[in-house]
Amino acid sequence: MSTNKLDQLYRSVIMDHYKNPRNKGVLSDNNVTIDMNNPTCGDVIHLTLQVEDGVVQDAKFEGEGCSISMASASMMTQLVKGKKTEDAVKYAHLFSDMMLGKDVDDSVDLGDIEALSGVAKFPARIKCATLAWKALEKGVGNESEE
Ligand code: FES
Repeated sequence: MSTNKLDQLYRSVIMDHYKNPRNKGVLSDNNVTIDMNNPTCGDVIHLTLQVEDGVVQDAKFEGEGCSISMASASMMTQLVKGKKTEDAVKYAHLFSDMMLGKDVDDSVDLGDIEALSGVAKFPARIKCATLAWKALEKGVGNESEE
């Protein structure tokens, strides 16, 4: 696929998550709550997780932010639901590496988050893309220490 076509495909995946966010809302039976903001713009995310037996059973988010930040939150919740907390942390690290333009293990199925790989070329937007992942890392990191 040409770079142009791939960019178009990635852009449409991002816009789909922005316009039709997955897992939007607040979990009523959550046991982990994280509020985080992007210091560069003040945009916020409110992430609620239900973590049991070391597994992220459910995840929802609310927030105000640009298309990249909200699409990233939607993709993140979609990816980590049902995953062990340690794997959720691994995905957060992998996403962070992707944003730093590092090569990531291509044997890992990244699902829709691959569509955000192009953000690495725009340093000003990296904090937008990583906002939800930082919240996740904080949430499952704290939880797994309990
Ligand atoms: Fe605020 Fe992207 S501009 S999160």
